[in-house]
Amino acid sequence: MAKDVAKRNIDEEYYQIGPEILGSFAKYRPPVDLFRFRDDIAVLEPYSRKDARLTNEQVEEVAKLCEDGDLFVSRSDHPIYSRHIVKQLDLVLQDRNLKEAEIADICLRALHMRYTAFIGQPVKAVFDPLYRDFSVFTEIIMGDRHRLTAFLRRLFRKHEPARHAINSMIVGMWLWLQLVSDYRRKELDRTGLALLLHDVGMCKVPAFLVGKAGRLKPDEREKVLLHPHLGVQMMQKLDVNFEEFVQACYEHHERNDGSGYPRKASGSQISRMGRIAAVADSFCAMIAERSYAQAMDPVDAARTLADDKRRYDEEMTRLLFSLVSTWPEPIPMDDAIEAT
Ligand SMILES: [Fe+2]
Ligand SMILES: [Fe+2]
Repeated sequence: MAKDVAKRNIDEEYYQIGPEILGSFAKYRPPVDLFRFRDDIAVLEPYSRKDARLTNEQVEEVAKLCEDGDLFVSRSDHPIYSRHIVKQLDLVLQDRNLKEAEIADICLRALHMRYTAFIGQPVKAVFDPLYRDFSVFTEIIMGDRHRLTAFLRRLFRKHEPARHAINSMIVGMWLWLQLVSDYRRKELDRTGLALLLHDVGMCKVPAFLVGKAGRLKPDEREKVLLHPHLGVQMMQKLDVNFEEFVQACYEHHERNDGSGYPRKASGSQISRMGRIAAVADSFCAMIAERSYAQAMDPVDAARTLADDKRRYDEEMTRLLFSLVSTWPEPIPMDDAIEAT
C-alpha cells in the first residue's frame, strides 16, 4: 500500500516504464536516464545514465525491474522519450502514465512524420504506417471525444502540407462530432481519414506551384485545380475509395452557391462530408502563416466564414464560430515539430 502511494507521487515527475516501451529502447544503450524504485526505502534512485552501455547482467536486471513495475524515466526526458515513442505510436495506448497533453503532443508528431513521408512517397508501404498511427489517434478520441480538445489547442499555425492535413482533420472531426449524437468507430475512422487526406492530391501538383505567392497563371491554376481528382485517383490505387473520402477530396473546394470546383456543385448537391471539409479546410488555410501571407486570427477567420453565407454551410460555420469564441488557450506546436 505504502509502495502504491509512493509510486503515485512519483508519477508526477517520472514515467513508469512498461515492457513494451522498454522493448522499444536499444537494449544495451537506453536513450534516457533510468531510475529504479527501491522497495525497502520507498524512494527512486538513479540506475543508469542515458546512452551508457549496460552489461548483460544489468540488461536482465532492468527487465526484471520493469516487470515488477519498478523502472522509471524522468519526465524531464520527455523530448527524448516522445521522439522515441513517436515511432511506435501504439505504445501511447498502453502507457497509463502519459498525461493527456503528452499523448496529444506525441500523436501529432507521429501523424506529421507519417503524413510527410506518405506524400513524399505515396505507396502502400508508406501509407500503412500512416493508417496505423491514424487508428491510434481515433482510438484515443473514441475512448472520449473530449480528448479532441487537447488536439484543438495544438493546431499548427504555419502552413505546410502535413500541418494543414492534420489541422483540417482535427477541426473537421470536431464539427462532425457536434452533428452526430451516436457513432461507431468505423464512421469516426472514415470521417477522420477523409479529412486527413482531403488534399493528398496536392503532392502530384508541381511543388513550385503549391507554394507560389501571388496569382497563378491560367495554365498553372488549371494544374492546381486538378488536385481533387488526382487525390481520388491516387488513393484508389491503394484501395482507399470509401464514400466519405471521395466526398471530402472531391468536394472540399465546392461552394454552396456553385462558385467552387471541380464540378461547380451547389446546395444539396454537396454532401455533408464535403461541406464539413470545405469549412475545416478554409478555416485551417486562413489561420496558417505562409511565406507570402500572415496568419489570420482564428476568431476573425471563423467570423469571415460565418459571414459568407452564400458560399459556406451556415450550420457548420456557426458551430465553428462558437468553438473558436470559447477557444482554449492555444499551445504552439510548430516549434516542437521543427525541433523533431
Ligand atoms: Fe484542396
Ligand atoms: Fe486543404
